[in-house]
Amino acid sequence: MTVHTALLQGSRLLEDAGIVVPRLTAEVLLAHALHCERVYLFAHPERELSPLEWLHYGRYLHERLQGKPTQYITQRQEFYGREFRVTPDVLIPRPETEHVVEVALQAAAGARTIPRNVLDVGVGSGALAVTLQLETGAAVCGTDISPAALAVAAENARRLGAVVNLVVCDVMNAIAPASMDLIVANPPYVPESQREGLQREVRDWEPPLALFAGATGFEVYSRIVADAPRVLRPGGWLVMELGFCSLAQVRDLLNGWADLRVEPDLAGIPRVIAAHI
Ligand SMILES: C[S@@+](CC[C@H](N)C(=O)[O-])C[C@H]1O[C@@H](n2cnc3c(N)ncnc32)[C@H](O)[C@@H]1O
Repeated sequence: MTVHTALLQGSRLLEDAGIVVPRLTAEVLLAHALHCERVYLFAHPERELSPLEWLHYGRYLHERLQGKPTQYITQRQEFYGREFRVTPDVLIPRPETEHVVEVALQAAAGARTIPRNVLDVGVGSGALAVTLQLETGAAVCGTDISPAALAVAAENARRLGAVVNLVVCDVMNAIAPASMDLIVANPPYVPESQREGLQREVRDWEPPLALFAGATGFEVYSRIVADAPRVLRPGGWLVMELGFCSLAQVRDLLNGWADLRVEPDLAGIPRVIAAHI
């Protein structure tokens, strides 16, 4: 079995099962089985797979056909130019969440004093916390209610050379008053009622704690907005990712905050909301 044939067979299997981007998925899974970059596959189409590589590739294809997201199979996802380890204990960081980084960096650049202390509420894989620590050099703290998620964040911080203080707590209830200049959050925002409508890759594989906030989807937002004034220093910013169709309600929650701004993502959908106290 050559690389060329393995890719043909794999992408056909995936396509027949209705998996999106079947060829790219087959390439990523084969590269993972061969411990190489995708570009190697294009340069070596006639390379023979060893029996062990064939076995691994077959297992990865089978897992993907069962609905397991590719990133949980390869245990990798790129975010803001860095590679993060992901397991089913954490949400797979999404490209849209990079807008949170952009807005946070802009808020930091425009702030009266350079943010020294940054908090990421619901740190998950550490995508936001690790990125902001490495991009700003600030002292960054990340909270999560899931100890398993914090273990993944700790590993990502260590591997990428970031120093992030990780705390298990509910929202930010363990964080000292007036200790932060900037809070970022990508909270769970899917209403329970939308569970069945989610893609099976998301619904059956990503951690429910990372997806669902409660009956309305605004439960964690409202708790963050309620407690942020206690934790922020005067003039401190709150930057949050917005869920689908959540702008109006989250903007209402931020009534009374200053310089409220909303940033769209590349699809033009309102994606990030920011304001300061
Ligand atoms: C949507 S994920 C975001 C993960 C990561 N920040 C990212 O953007 O990829 C939300 C995270 O919030 C955590 N979480 C949910 N409820 C929480 C709560 N009450 N207090 C703290 N963290 C919570 C989940 O465990 C999950 O890791």
